[in-house]
Amino acid sequence: MNHLLNHAFDPEEFRKEGHQLVDLLATYLQDCRDARQMPVLPPSEPDKMLAFWENDLNRKEFNLQEFYQTLIDQSNHIHHPRYMGHQVVPPAPLSALTELLEALLNNGMAIYEMGPASTAIERVVIRWLAAHLGMMEEADGILTSGGSAGNLTGLLAARQAMSGYNIWDEGARDDTRLAFMVSAEAHYSVSRAAQIMGWGDKGVVKVPVNSRMQLDASKLEESLANARASGLNVIALVGNACTTSTGTYDPLWEMANFAESHGLWFHVDGAHGGAAAMTEKYRHLTKGIERADSVVIDFHKMMLTPALTTAVLFRNGQHSFSTFAQKAEYLLGNSVQKPWYDSAGRTLECTKKMLGVKVYAMIKLYGDQLFRDYITTTYDLGQLMSVLIKREKGFELAVEPDGNIVCFRHRPDGFTGDLNQLTAAIRKRLLDDAGFYVVQTSVNDQVYLRITIMNPFTKEEDLTALLRLIRENALLLINPGQEKVN
Ligand SMILES: Cc1ncc(COP(=O)(O)O)c(C=O)c1O
Repeated sequence: MNHLLNHAFDPEEFRKEGHQLVDLLATYLQDCRDARQMPVLPPSEPDKMLAFWENDLNRKEFNLQEFYQTLIDQSNHIHHPRYMGHQVVPPAPLSALTELLEALLNNGMAIYEMGPASTAIERVVIRWLAAHLGMMEEADGILTSGGSAGNLTGLLAARQAMSGYNIWDEGARDDTRLAFMVSAEAHYSVSRAAQIMGWGDKGVVKVPVNSRMQLDASKLEESLANARASGLNVIALVGNACTTSTGTYDPLWEMANFAESHGLWFHVDGAHGGAAAMTEKYRHLTKGIERADSVVIDFHKMMLTPALTTAVLFRNGQHSFSTFAQKAEYLLGNSVQKPWYDSAGRTLECTKKMLGVKVYAMIKLYGDQLFRDYITTTYDLGQLMSVLIKREKGFELAVEPDGNIVCFRHRPDGFTGDLNQLTAAIRKRLLDDAGFYVVQTSVNDQVYLRITIMNPFTKEEDLTALLRLIRENALLLINPGQEKVN
């Protein structure tokens, strides 16, 4: 037997390194919980980082555990209570452990035989989620790799169902100027889906938003009439639950009414906030999601699961079978009705990870309440931050937040300079300081700091410390000579 292959597959070495890795990660998790001094995102520059790893590749010596530790040290620390950046969840540790099992078993999932148990588990998870959203028995769907793939899948189903002919097989006709309506606040993956489908920019009809950056339902009628008058065949309406930038929810119920009365497919991008439907306190934000024809929900955003794990749900489960009408006899046979258990017929992916397993393990370990507690806790923290900002002199919200995404800025007393520049400079200083990780966004062409409170262990003192640090940094930026006040 080849020595190297034997070595690479040695079960005892796996056991030894695996135990050490779990110890390392447990220590890391504890450090994140306790050691607020640890940098959240250690400052680095892309070219220097690349040089480091190029150099490392050329070094003779290598120690796996040291490599793991270096990677941890150089990474963005999502489990740190002062991580408040992009919408990536700190995975529940045991869901990450379950993912190790998925990775090693590596069942491909394209067809049933490639992953029998995980295929059945995925269906259980899909039905569990559909029921929590208030969908009926006939709902169905699949898990796929990411909200971007999910939005494309939902909108491909809309195209197949609503274009009036078999567009999958026949392709676009000269006179099919298909389009959907959505607010300008939608995540870019929504318009990207239109572009992938060949509809171009014109295929995305932007409905105006109100002052809270929610789609303005009173503008739907006019937007549709204008689009139709310009020759577009509008087939769908897309709702945000919630928007990426400001985290506010579109009026889904009114949108569902509009879609129903105008014969449009209703797709809801609930990648971030769709799961709030599970909670008692925030369910009202998603009212109407259960009436959508298709819904996307990312488990790796508000459902404690490692990336990427996305659900695409169809109210009428049959639509899940018409999205991809690919013929591939070697894999999918030639039957007309695709069976539920051959997922390649219904997803962008052929080989797919065993996505449902870690979700299933969490449901069984902790019960549905874990997800409710997580969403409610982080959304409550977003609401608390909004209260603190309103209370603090010199701070202003971009919009009143609905959940855990909060956009705000600091306007120092008497400041008459360029607030956009100051806000961007404050964020740069926060990054250099590395005590917090926050991002920035633009709302009505104004720059705002944007936080998404993803960590349920973030405390009020973390939020007040952030506001204090912003104030101090603004002072230093305005009066560069001044010493830092503590
Ligand atoms: C509302 C919304 N939809 C879709 C996406 C894309 O999801 P993913 O990053 O899983 O592809 C995002 C990502 O931030 C999002 O916020």
